[in-house]
Amino acid sequence: MTQNIKGFSKLTKEEKINWIAQTYFSNPAEAKTVITQYWNNNEELQKLHDEFIENTLTNFYLPYGVAPNFLINGKSYTIPMAIEESSVVAAASKAAKFWSERSGFKTTIIDTEKIGQVHFLFDGNADELEAFFDCIKAKFWIDTDEFTKNMQKRGGGIVNIQLINKTHELEHYYQLHATFNTKDSMGANFINTCLEQFAKTLVNEAQEYTPFLKENRTIQVIMSILSNYVPNCLVRVEVSSPVDNMSDDKSIEGKEFAEKFATAVKIAEIEPYRAVTHNKGIMNGIDAVVIATGNDFRAIEAGVHAFAGKDGQYSSLSHAKIENGIFTFWMDIPLALGTIGGLTSLHPLVKFSLEMLGKPSAEELMQIIAAAGLAQNFAAVRSLTTTGIQKGHMKMHIMNILNQHHATKEEKLQVLEYFKDTTISHSLVVDYLESLRS
Ligand code: MEV
Repeated sequence: MTQNIKGFSKLTKEEKINWIAQTYFSNPAEAKTVITQYWNNNEELQKLHDEFIENTLTNFYLPYGVAPNFLINGKSYTIPMAIEESSVVAAASKAAKFWSERSGFKTTIIDTEKIGQVHFLFDGNADELEAFFDCIKAKFWIDTDEFTKNMQKRGGGIVNIQLINKTHELEHYYQLHATFNTKDSMGANFINTCLEQFAKTLVNEAQEYTPFLKENRTIQVIMSILSNYVPNCLVRVEVSSPVDNMSDDKSIEGKEFAEKFATAVKIAEIEPYRAVTHNKGIMNGIDAVVIATGNDFRAIEAGVHAFAGKDGQYSSLSHAKIENGIFTFWMDIPLALGTIGGLTSLHPLVKFSLEMLGKPSAEELMQIIAAAGLAQNFAAVRSLTTTGIQKGHMKMHIMNILNQHHATKEEKLQVLEYFKDTTISHSLVVDYLESLRS
């Protein structure tokens, strides 16, 4: 049976669901119920979500939680997080509380530069191209004036455009490497619009440039696109405390814990297998807030991991040291974010998140999200170097196991009570639940 279909996008939502249900499911009626039970009764709201993407059938829920008690540069925040992993919000909240009792997170914006490139081929020599570029450079600003006016009013715009010779890596290959300031917007559309105009200007000017006409030179644009690698759109976040004050748990002294923690971070700095997981812990915090504030988590992930490998070996994003009895834990992280444009004024939950955060500028949001990432990393490495990760993780995950096995409210209470102080594993929970039932 062929499962290809022509004109799927032209079908109504109901027709699409019918086709999917009939084509792929042994019980089409049940499949339709699974999909339609997630429709929102508010038709206007549903339509809004339907129109975010093509071929929408329904909504895919992620839990939306909050982590309170984040003290960042002396200001208190409750941070929204959209994430499915059981222990992340609890861990962030715990770390936030720990550091709010120790003077909180200190953050600084290092830079906010965004980058875009026009990739093209030129069949002449580099000096000829350089002379042409110098001659037409001002035109790139003139030809984009109508798109950049508003951004300029907000204090942003095109910062610089450079010609880069890449012919030693690929024959005839050059770039226009442009930098931008996009203020409170993430700026992807702005940057891509400018770049596509740069490409047109480049080709048009080349066609009228006498030295190129004489030599029969051509420019072939391959593509124009922003880069998600933004090593100069950087925020620093840091926490510190006297080592003696680093434990709120009687089982370990503050100094011993701080030393063990700093060693764990050193391991992540030198060992890529550990670094990837270490950084994944940071991204647990970052992605959750990026999603809740309507930003593009794929762009953030791509940029962050490229940054983690910038020195030639993938390494830890965060660092720790103990000097003169003071433990310091910090990271620099690239975050290209927006608080205007995109979904920020469209998605009601994104608007809610931003209002709860006090309607931050993009720079303030960079600082909040960096703090969420460092908090998450602190919580994970603290668990790893003390109790082990499974204790806290399984405590949160136990509810998923109970729901999988359709536990009643009464059974849940009994299971939670039983596992309060004992080792939790999937099979132990299931065995205990079954023993209750028999
Ligand atoms: C799990 O989602 C994240 C951790 O693996 C992070 C880490 O190992 O640091 C706990």
